Amino acid sequence: MPEKIVAGNWKMNTLPEQGLTLSESVLGALPEILGCKVILCPPFTHLDRVIRLLKGTSVLPGSQNVSAYKQGAYTGEVSADMLAAMGIQYSIVGHSERRQYFSERGDTLKNKLVRLKEVGIIPIFCVGETLEERESGQEGTVVLTQLNEALPETLENSTELVVAYEPVWAIGTGKTASPEQASEMHGVIRQDLIHRYGSSIGGEISILYGGSVKPDNAAELFSMDDIDGGLIGGAALNAADFISIIKAFK
Ligand code: 13P
Repeated sequence: MPEKIVAGNWKMNTLPEQGLTLSESVLGALPEILGCKVILCPPFTHLDRVIRLLKGTSVLPGSQNVSAYKQGAYTGEVSADMLAAMGIQYSIVGHSERRQYFSERGDTLKNKLVRLKEVGIIPIFCVGETLEERESGQEGTVVLTQLNEALPETLENSTELVVAYEPVWAIGTGKTASPEQASEMHGVIRQDLIHRYGSSIGGEISILYGGSVKPDNAAELFSMDDIDGGLIGGAALNAADFISIIKAFK
Protein backbone atom coordinates (compact mmCIF):
# COMPACT_ATOMS: atom_id res chain seq x y z
CA MET A 1 0.00 0.00 0.00
CA PRO A 2 1.35 3.47 -0.80
CA GLU A 3 2.00 5.56 2.28
CA LYS A 4 -0.86 7.94 3.23
CA ILE A 5 0.30 11.56 3.43
CA VAL A 6 -1.26 14.95 4.18
CA ALA A 7 1.05 17.89 3.45
CA GLY A 8 0.35 21.57 4.12
CA ASN A 9 1.73 24.05 1.59
CA TRP A 10 1.57 27.45 3.27
CA LYS A 11 2.77 29.23 0.09
CA MET A 12 3.84 32.87 0.75
CA ASN A 13 1.66 33.19 3.84
CA THR A 14 2.33 33.74 7.55
CA LEU A 15 5.04 35.73 9.30
CA PRO A 16 7.40 33.69 11.48
CA GLU A 17 5.40 34.09 14.72
CA GLN A 18 2.16 33.13 12.96
CA GLY A 19 3.87 30.13 11.41
CA LEU A 20 5.06 28.96 14.81
CA THR A 21 1.62 29.44 16.34
CA LEU A 22 0.06 27.50 13.48
CA SER A 23 2.59 24.67 13.89
CA GLU A 24 1.99 24.58 17.65
CA SER A 25 -1.77 24.43 17.12
CA VAL A 26 -1.40 21.57 14.64
CA LEU A 27 0.89 19.67 17.02
CA GLY A 28 -1.40 20.34 19.99
CA ALA A 29 -4.49 19.06 18.21
CA LEU A 30 -2.97 15.97 16.62
CA PRO A 31 -4.13 12.67 18.01
CA GLU A 32 -1.39 10.28 19.14
CA ILE A 33 -2.11 7.76 16.45
CA LEU A 34 -2.37 9.13 12.98
CA GLY A 35 -3.74 7.37 9.94
CA CYS A 36 -1.24 9.22 7.74
CA LYS A 37 2.11 10.97 7.60
CA VAL A 38 1.86 14.76 8.14
CA ILE A 39 4.21 17.29 6.51
CA LEU A 40 4.33 21.08 6.96
CA CYS A 41 5.91 23.27 4.25
CA PRO A 42 6.39 26.82 5.61
CA PRO A 43 8.19 29.66 3.81
CA PHE A 44 12.02 29.53 3.92
CA THR A 45 12.17 32.34 6.48
CA HIS A 46 10.62 30.23 9.22
CA LEU A 47 11.80 26.79 8.23
CA ASP A 48 14.52 26.65 10.84
CA ARG A 49 12.23 27.61 13.72
CA VAL A 50 9.47 25.26 12.58
CA ILE A 51 12.00 22.42 12.24
CA ARG A 52 13.11 22.93 15.85
CA LEU A 53 9.51 22.92 17.02
CA LEU A 54 8.66 19.74 15.10
CA LYS A 55 11.76 17.86 16.21
CA GLY A 56 10.84 14.62 17.97
CA THR A 57 7.18 14.83 16.90
CA SER A 58 5.38 12.87 14.20
CA VAL A 59 5.10 15.94 11.94
CA LEU A 60 7.83 16.37 9.33
CA PRO A 61 9.20 19.56 7.79
CA GLY A 62 9.23 20.24 4.05
CA SER A 63 10.30 23.14 1.84
CA GLN A 64 8.25 24.70 -0.95
CA ASN A 65 11.11 24.95 -3.40
CA VAL A 66 14.78 24.19 -3.99
CA SER A 67 17.40 25.49 -6.40
CA ALA A 68 18.17 23.54 -9.57
CA TYR A 69 21.83 24.45 -9.01
CA LYS A 70 24.20 22.77 -6.59
CA GLN A 71 26.03 25.85 -5.26
CA GLY A 72 27.71 29.08 -6.28
CA ALA A 73 26.79 32.48 -7.70
CA TYR A 74 23.00 32.11 -7.84
CA THR A 75 21.75 35.08 -5.86
CA GLY A 76 18.63 34.40 -3.86
CA GLU A 77 18.63 30.65 -4.35
CA VAL A 78 18.50 27.98 -1.64
CA SER A 79 20.32 24.73 -2.37
CA ALA A 80 19.34 21.15 -1.61
CA ASP A 81 22.48 20.78 0.54
CA MET A 82 21.38 23.78 2.64
CA LEU A 83 17.93 22.28 3.13
CA ALA A 84 19.37 18.88 4.03
CA ALA A 85 21.70 20.51 6.56
CA MET A 86 18.65 22.07 8.23
CA GLY A 87 16.92 18.72 8.52
CA ILE A 88 14.42 19.06 5.68
CA GLN A 89 12.99 15.74 4.50
CA TYR A 90 10.58 16.74 1.72
CA SER A 91 10.50 19.46 -0.91
CA ILE A 92 7.69 20.52 -3.23
CA VAL A 93 8.91 20.74 -6.85
CA GLY A 94 7.05 21.88 -9.95
CA HIS A 95 4.08 23.50 -8.24
CA SER A 96 1.83 25.11 -10.86
CA GLU A 97 2.47 28.54 -9.32
CA ARG A 98 6.19 28.08 -9.97
CA ARG A 99 5.44 26.86 -13.47
CA GLN A 100 3.09 29.79 -14.13
CA TYR A 101 4.82 32.75 -12.44
CA PHE A 102 8.46 31.68 -12.56
CA SER A 103 8.46 29.79 -15.87
CA GLU A 104 9.78 26.58 -14.33
CA ARG A 105 9.51 23.47 -16.46
CA GLY A 106 11.37 20.64 -18.14
CA ASP A 107 15.07 20.64 -17.46
CA THR A 108 14.88 23.01 -14.50
CA LEU A 109 12.50 20.68 -12.72
CA LYS A 110 14.51 17.63 -13.69
CA ASN A 111 17.64 19.26 -12.22
CA LYS A 112 15.79 20.09 -9.01
CA LEU A 113 14.90 16.40 -8.64
CA VAL A 114 18.54 15.45 -9.23
CA ARG A 115 19.71 17.93 -6.59
CA LEU A 116 17.23 16.56 -4.05
CA LYS A 117 18.22 12.96 -4.77
CA GLU A 118 21.88 13.80 -4.16
CA VAL A 119 21.05 14.75 -0.58
CA GLY A 120 18.22 12.31 0.11
CA ILE A 121 15.33 14.80 0.27
CA ILE A 122 12.08 13.38 -1.09
CA PRO A 123 10.42 15.49 -3.79
CA ILE A 124 6.69 16.10 -3.81
CA PHE A 125 6.50 16.53 -7.58
CA CYS A 126 3.40 18.43 -8.74
CA VAL A 127 1.61 18.00 -12.05
CA GLY A 128 -1.74 19.25 -13.34
CA GLU A 129 -3.59 20.73 -16.27
CA THR A 130 -5.13 24.17 -16.76
CA LEU A 131 -8.85 24.68 -17.36
CA GLU A 132 -8.23 25.26 -21.08
CA GLU A 133 -6.28 22.02 -21.32
CA ARG A 134 -9.04 20.09 -19.55
CA GLU A 135 -11.76 21.64 -21.68
CA SER A 136 -9.92 20.56 -24.80
CA GLY A 137 -9.52 17.02 -23.47
CA GLN A 138 -5.75 17.25 -23.05
CA GLU A 139 -5.49 16.64 -19.30
CA GLY A 140 -3.99 13.14 -19.64
CA THR A 141 -1.38 14.18 -22.22
CA VAL A 142 -0.39 17.28 -20.25
CA VAL A 143 0.16 15.38 -17.02
CA LEU A 144 2.06 12.56 -18.74
CA THR A 145 4.31 15.09 -20.48
CA GLN A 146 5.04 16.83 -17.16
CA LEU A 147 6.00 13.48 -15.59
CA ASN A 148 8.09 12.52 -18.58
CA GLU A 149 10.01 15.79 -18.66
CA ALA A 150 11.31 15.56 -15.14
CA LEU A 151 11.10 12.16 -13.46
CA PRO A 152 14.28 10.12 -13.07
CA GLU A 153 14.71 6.99 -15.19
CA THR A 154 15.11 4.75 -12.20
CA LEU A 155 14.19 4.70 -8.53
CA GLU A 156 15.54 2.35 -5.90
CA ASN A 157 12.37 2.36 -3.86
CA SER A 158 8.87 3.76 -3.81
CA THR A 159 9.45 6.15 -0.92
CA GLU A 160 11.99 8.22 -2.91
CA LEU A 161 9.22 10.12 -4.70
CA VAL A 162 5.78 11.55 -3.99
CA VAL A 163 3.61 12.82 -6.86
CA ALA A 164 0.86 15.42 -6.38
CA TYR A 165 -1.91 15.85 -8.93
CA GLU A 166 -3.10 19.46 -8.68
CA PRO A 167 -5.43 20.58 -11.46
CA VAL A 168 -4.62 24.28 -11.89
CA TRP A 169 -8.32 25.17 -12.20
CA ALA A 170 -8.98 23.74 -8.72
CA ILE A 171 -6.17 25.55 -6.86
CA GLY A 172 -7.43 28.31 -4.58
CA THR A 173 -10.66 28.56 -6.56
CA GLY A 174 -12.97 26.56 -4.29
CA LYS A 175 -13.67 24.32 -7.32
CA THR A 176 -12.53 20.86 -6.30
CA ALA A 177 -12.12 18.14 -8.90
CA SER A 178 -14.92 15.64 -8.34
CA PRO A 179 -13.70 12.46 -6.61
CA GLU A 180 -14.24 10.64 -9.93
CA GLN A 181 -12.27 13.22 -11.97
CA ALA A 182 -9.42 13.14 -9.45
CA SER A 183 -9.37 9.35 -9.22
CA GLU A 184 -9.35 9.01 -13.00
CA MET A 185 -6.27 11.23 -13.28
CA HIS A 186 -4.57 9.47 -10.36
CA GLY A 187 -5.16 6.23 -12.28
CA VAL A 188 -3.42 7.72 -15.33
CA ILE A 189 -0.47 8.76 -13.15
CA ARG A 190 -0.37 5.35 -11.42
CA GLN A 191 -0.23 3.52 -14.76
CA ASP A 192 2.60 5.76 -15.91
CA LEU A 193 4.56 5.16 -12.68
CA ILE A 194 4.07 1.39 -12.99
CA HIS A 195 5.17 1.50 -16.62
CA ARG A 196 8.22 3.55 -15.66
CA TYR A 197 9.37 1.81 -12.48
CA GLY A 198 7.57 -1.55 -12.43
CA SER A 199 4.66 -2.46 -10.19
CA SER A 200 6.59 -3.05 -6.97
CA ILE A 201 7.89 0.56 -7.03
CA GLY A 202 5.45 2.43 -9.30
CA GLY A 203 2.46 0.77 -7.64
CA GLU A 204 3.59 1.95 -4.20
CA ILE A 205 4.47 5.62 -4.80
CA SER A 206 2.11 7.96 -2.94
CA ILE A 207 -0.02 10.13 -5.23
CA LEU A 208 -1.57 13.13 -3.46
CA TYR A 209 -4.49 15.24 -4.65
CA GLY A 210 -4.32 19.03 -4.29
CA GLY A 211 -6.85 21.74 -5.19
CA SER A 212 -9.43 23.14 -2.77
CA VAL A 213 -9.29 20.18 -0.37
CA LYS A 214 -11.40 21.15 2.65
CA PRO A 215 -12.66 19.36 5.77
CA ASP A 216 -15.98 18.61 4.06
CA ASN A 217 -14.58 16.96 0.92
CA ALA A 218 -11.37 15.32 2.20
CA ALA A 219 -12.84 12.00 3.35
CA GLU A 220 -14.54 11.34 0.04
CA LEU A 221 -11.48 12.29 -2.02
CA PHE A 222 -9.17 10.18 0.18
CA SER A 223 -11.48 7.16 -0.14
CA MET A 224 -10.98 6.99 -3.91
CA ASP A 225 -8.69 4.54 -5.69
CA ASP A 226 -5.13 5.80 -6.10
CA ILE A 227 -5.67 8.93 -3.97
CA ASP A 228 -3.13 8.46 -1.21
CA GLY A 229 -3.54 11.79 0.51
CA GLY A 230 -3.60 15.53 -0.07
CA LEU A 231 -1.44 18.58 -0.68
CA ILE A 232 -3.37 21.30 1.09
CA GLY A 233 -3.07 25.05 0.44
CA GLY A 234 -5.63 27.44 1.95
CA ALA A 235 -7.05 24.98 4.48
CA ALA A 236 -3.54 24.28 5.84
CA LEU A 237 -3.42 27.86 7.16
CA ASN A 238 -6.19 27.08 9.61
CA ALA A 239 -5.13 24.53 12.23
CA ALA A 240 -8.67 23.24 12.88
CA ASP A 241 -9.35 22.72 9.16
CA PHE A 242 -5.98 21.07 8.59
CA ILE A 243 -6.51 18.71 11.52
CA SER A 244 -9.98 17.72 10.26
CA ILE A 245 -8.43 16.93 6.88
CA ILE A 246 -5.77 14.75 8.57
CA LYS A 247 -8.50 13.01 10.55
CA ALA A 248 -10.33 12.19 7.33
CA PHE A 249 -7.93 9.22 7.15
CA LYS A 250 -9.04 7.68 10.46
P1 13P B 1 -5.65 25.18 -2.28
O1 13P B 1 -5.86 24.06 -1.28
O2 13P B 1 -5.65 26.53 -1.63
O3 13P B 1 -6.57 25.08 -3.44
O4 13P B 1 -4.16 25.01 -2.84
C1 13P B 1 -3.75 23.77 -3.28
C2 13P B 1 -2.29 23.83 -3.53
O5 13P B 1 -1.85 24.52 -4.43
C3 13P B 1 -1.40 23.05 -2.66
O6 13P B 1 -0.10 22.99 -3.16
